[in-house]
Amino acid sequence: MAVGILLVGGFGTRLMPLTKNSPKPMLTVAGLPVTEHQLAMAKRAGITTIVLATSYLSEVFTPYFGDGSRWGMKIMYAVETKPLGTGGAIRNAAKLLPTDQSVVVFNGDVLSSHNLSQQIKEHELNKADVTLHLTAVDDARPYGCVPTDSDGRVTAFLEKMENPITNTINAGCYVFKPSVIETIPLDEVISVERQVFPELVANHGKVFGFIDDSYWLDIGTPKALLKGSIDLVTGAADASALTPDLVHTRTGDSLIMKGAHVDPGAVIDKGSCISHGAVIADGAHISGSIIEAGASIGRDCAIVDSFVAAGAIIENSAQISAAFVTNSEIISIPQ
Ligand code: GTP
Repeated sequence: MAVGILLVGGFGTRLMPLTKNSPKPMLTVAGLPVTEHQLAMAKRAGITTIVLATSYLSEVFTPYFGDGSRWGMKIMYAVETKPLGTGGAIRNAAKLLPTDQSVVVFNGDVLSSHNLSQQIKEHELNKADVTLHLTAVDDARPYGCVPTDSDGRVTAFLEKMENPITNTINAGCYVFKPSVIETIPLDEVISVERQVFPELVANHGKVFGFIDDSYWLDIGTPKALLKGSIDLVTGAADASALTPDLVHTRTGDSLIMKGAHVDPGAVIDKGSCISHGAVIADGAHISGSIIEAGASIGRDCAIVDSFVAAGAIIENSAQISAAFVTNSEIISIPQ
C-alpha cells in the first residue's frame, strides 16, 4: 500500500496568461483538469489517499475535488502560505499522511502512462530511500540528466548541459521511504531536484531509477499543453479518467463532454475537446484545440491549435490560430 502527494502549488509562469486565474494543474486537457487525469493514474496503482500540496491559487482546488469521495479517494489539502519549493511542499504535505507506507510524489504538470505499480514494487523490494521514474528523451539538453549504474542506482543529478552524458531524465514521479521525507527541514524553501536528491546521492543514500519509456509529457509549455490534450483524446496517452458518465462522444479525433452543446453543423477534429457547458455554434470548425467549460464559440468561427479558456466568448466568424484566448486577451502561442 502507498499514499500520494500531488505537487500543485507552482506559479505556472510559462503558461501565462492562462495561469492568471487558474493554477496550471487545473487547466483542462481532454475535458478535465490535469490533476484529475493524474488522480486516475494514481488510483490505477492502488493509491486512494492523496494530499494536494497547494499554494498559488490554492482556493481553486477544494471546491472541485472536495474530500475525493466522487473518485472513491480520500483527498486532503496542505496549503503553503508562501511556496516552499518542491522539497518543502513534500515535507509539509507528509504531515497529513501515515508514516508506515511508501509515499508517491507526483509533479502536478506531468501526463504519464508509466507502470507506477511496478515502480512502487521495485522501490519496496530494493528497500530504497527514493525511487525516481526516469524517462529517455531524444534531446536531454533542456533538462538535467540522471545517470544510473548497472544495478539501477542513481549516480548523479546533473544540471542542464550542452552534451548530456545520458538521455534519461527525471520524469517527476518519486516513491519515498517516509523516514527520508522526515529529514527535510520543516517550513523552509527547499527543492527536491536541486537539494534533497543530489545530497542523498552524495551521502550514499539508496536512490534508484525506475526507467520506463511509456508515454510521458511535461505539459508546462503552451505547445505541450495542447499536445497533451490531443494525445489523451486520440488515445496516445492513457485517458482512464474519461469515464462513460462524463463523456458525450469520443471519436478518436474529437472529444465532447456531457453538458456541452455542439451544433450538428459544427466540425470538431484533430484531437479537439469540448468541455462541459461550452457552446459551439453552426458552421464553426474547431481543430487541434481545447475549449474549456462554459466557453462560447460563435457561428462560422475557425479555431485552430488554440486554447479557449473557461467562459471566453468568441464572436461569429472569428478566425483564431495558435493562440490562448481568455475573456480579456488573445496571446499568440510561440511556435
Ligand atoms: P513554471 O513557473 O512555468 O516553471 O511552472 P511551475 O511553477 O509549476 O514550476 P515547475 O514546473 O518547476 O513545478 C513542477 C511541479 O511542482 C508543478 O506541478 C508545480 O505546481 C509544483 N511546484 C513547484 N513549486 C512548488 C511549491 O513551492 N509548492 C508546491 N506545493 N508545489 C510546487
